[in-house]
Amino acid sequence: MQVLESVPPTAPGKATVRAGSNIAFIKYWGVDDATINLPQNNSISMTLADAHTTTTLQWLDQGLAATDEITLDGTRLDAHRAARLVRHLDRIRALAGIDWRVRVVSQNNFPMASGIASSASGFAALTTAACYALGLELSATRLSALARRGSGSASRSLFGGFVEWERGQDDVTSVAHQLYPAEHWALYDVVAVVSGAEKAVSSEQGHGLAASSPLNAGRVASVPQALDEVRAAIAQRDLARLGPVIEQDALAMHAVMMTSTPSLFYWQPGTLEIIHALHAWRAQDGLQAYFTIDAGPNLHILCEEADIVAVQTRLATLTSVQQVIVSRPGPAPLLLDEPLF
Ligand code: DP6
Repeated sequence: MQVLESVPPTAPGKATVRAGSNIAFIKYWGVDDATINLPQNNSISMTLADAHTTTTLQWLDQGLAATDEITLDGTRLDAHRAARLVRHLDRIRALAGIDWRVRVVSQNNFPMASGIASSASGFAALTTAACYALGLELSATRLSALARRGSGSASRSLFGGFVEWERGQDDVTSVAHQLYPAEHWALYDVVAVVSGAEKAVSSEQGHGLAASSPLNAGRVASVPQALDEVRAAIAQRDLARLGPVIEQDALAMHAVMMTSTPSLFYWQPGTLEIIHALHAWRAQDGLQAYFTIDAGPNLHILCEEADIVAVQTRLATLTSVQQVIVSRPGPAPLLLDEPLF
């Protein structure tokens, strides 16, 4: 089944889209079908307002360009670095029945090595801009399915606020939907950056290793109940209920990573320093703040507005924290009037 309806593109146009990254509360780790990024389990995330990618994409009529020209954060990507994006553009070209090339300029407002997922916001912005610029009026659900092919977590960035990606059965049904809009709950994601180094093993490679861990089946079996808890905690805006569940799933995912073959070990000494400090702040001072960790060493600390200053002040006392980035829940991808070229 095809994701796109066979709507003929109107003309090679241009569009600019801003999409937020997202932080997962229940993680996507491991695929059942790598060709379509069909995950092992549903995941739930919060789209970020203050960590986003802006992408201007222009389709170039035949003869104007032989290759796609992609510039990311001021650097023109060579063929090797552009390959994953070009493969995604090839999908859109195939579905739309065109062979036009593109010029793309894309800008993240956060450092690539900050531990914030640039693939989620990047593929959400690229997919949306590419389809808009073709005049294809696709629903957010269809764009979510298409973005998933580029990067699994990007499927969630097609929606604002609190979002669930249903595993589904196939390329059409594995899509995200909104649970609650951003205004539902002013939850903050405070990213404590302990290392800006590029990770040695990408998420793309890591998803293929999950099944080799003896702990993977246990984690996947625990997810349905965790999803129920997370949905209920978000509905009630109850951080004391949400926090322990998201910490446990992040730890379970990292246990799977550490025990896969080969072992993936993303943590640094600073990762543990912050976990221990957070435990102490909660136990001794009653600070309401909980962590999650993606495929890297940096901590994402979730707290409410009243505790933002307390969290930031405490993080500033830790030697391993290099940088702190704060974000609120954000909107679905936005079409902008100001192109980047
Ligand atoms: C640990 O979406 O980056 O952040 O589909 O290969 O692009 P690809 O993987 P990606 O994986 C995200 C993994 C995670 C957890 C999550 O965001 O759910």
